[in-house]
Amino acid sequence: MREEQMRDVLVLDPQGTMAERLAEIATPESTFTHARSIAEARQLLQQKRYGVGLAIFDALTLDFALAQQQEIERLVLGSSATEWIAVVGRELLADTDFQAFVVRAFHDFHTLPIDPERLLPCIGHAHGKARLRLALSGKNEASGRFGIYGASSAMCEFFRQMEKVVKADLPVLVGGETGTGKELVAQAIHRHSQRSTGAFIVVNCGAIPTELIQSELFGHEKGAFTGAFQRKIGSIEAANGGLLFLDEIGDLPLALQANLLRVLQEHTITRVGSTQAIPVDFRIVAATHVDLREAVKCGRFREDLYYRLNVLHMQLPPLRARAGDVPILADAIFRKLNAAGRGSRASGFSSEALKAMNAYDWPGNVRELINRVHRALIMSENRLISTADLGLEDSVRVRENLTLEDARASFDRDIVESSLRANRNNVSRAARQLGVSRVTLYRMMNKLNIAPLH
Ligand SMILES: Nc1ncnc2c1ncn2[C@@H]1O[C@H](COP(=O)(O)OP(=O)(O)OP(=O)(O)O)[C@@H](O)[C@H]1O
Ligand SMILES: [Mg+2]
Repeated sequence: MREEQMRDVLVLDPQGTMAERLAEIATPESTFTHARSIAEARQLLQQKRYGVGLAIFDALTLDFALAQQQEIERLVLGSSATEWIAVVGRELLADTDFQAFVVRAFHDFHTLPIDPERLLPCIGHAHGKARLRLALSGKNEASGRFGIYGASSAMCEFFRQMEKVVKADLPVLVGGETGTGKELVAQAIHRHSQRSTGAFIVVNCGAIPTELIQSELFGHEKGAFTGAFQRKIGSIEAANGGLLFLDEIGDLPLALQANLLRVLQEHTITRVGSTQAIPVDFRIVAATHVDLREAVKCGRFREDLYYRLNVLHMQLPPLRARAGDVPILADAIFRKLNAAGRGSRASGFSSEALKAMNAYDWPGNVRELINRVHRALIMSENRLISTADLGLEDSVRVRENLTLEDARASFDRDIVESSLRANRNNVSRAARQLGVSRVTLYRMMNKLNIAPLH
């Protein structure tokens, strides 16, 4: 018998009242596997895929059934490959709280006593739906590589480059707007490279105060400076044998750029406060959201270091340039959050919501998509996530009569204001973060009518 013709039904029956009755209606194609507790059901689901689950609410007091509600809901939402049917006594179904629970968590329900004429077709439908869901999720799992989702031509081209990049043991520079997946790419390079058993060390050059970066990267000896109570192994040394990911490399101060260049040329490091050169062997992947060539032209980034890092270049396209990827990503994120127990009653996206997501520009790229889907799971009160749950109602409406110029100005304003806020109104620092000169930033502030904040 072909596997898709088999109807293996998992039965959660804490009271054990249904075993005999179900055995009577079982057929060679439809078998019933019984679990006497939620934990046992969970275990069975881990061992095997069940298209359909029956949750029996027989001989249970209403209080007990409602008390178990949360745990059952978690089981149901966590087993996304299974369609669940509630099998319920009439007296329980008379309660409105219980009704709401059934509507929210279950694909369907069956009122006791068991009536094969009604129950078997109901199981049949549920199986059909589970098969469909499996086919769709199979399609999505194939939509991407290296743990990175995407099926657009832009991403397929990216995956083709990745194939070559993971195999070569050379420096990589990953470019891309914020939230496009630069760190995810660095992790994938590590996982698929010959250094996968070595360490994966991340240093965010933009997040560490300038005075600490040197000791963070190179380590220090005890007593090297005030406060150096103990010897510290720096990130480069820790990455020995593995991969060092330097995030926001454009923020590395010029003096340290010179030090890093020396490490890449000589394959040795010297801890702060020491004269001893220690040999190191690591692969370097650097990421930047600014155009480093521009930074080189403006004298903010050393040209020789740029060439050392940019041996292989990978540019992540912004999400708005990945046609067709938004629904794939949204669905994958939705299923992942659901499986992690952040479930809601929603079982997918409404067609309006999908349309709105496709039309939206995603300035924060995949990270923004994750945040919006997460928010929608919390907000949603219906079976399908709406445009409003995603917080996209206004942007879609506003965009309809917005010129490109207006949209750009509003985006620039958001970014400039938040950068000034993050840098406590220090224009030089904000300019550096934004990858523009101070003069350019002042000009933008003037044009956008942004006064330095107080
Ligand atoms: N194609 C993708 N498939 C699945 N998840 C993705 C994809 N792209 C990004 N993500 C997820 O989106 C989030 C943001 O990605 P990541 O941190 O790698 O972006 P980034 O480019 O480093 O952003 P930033 O410039 O803001 O540091 C992460 O949770 C990451 O796992
Ligand atoms: Mg990042």
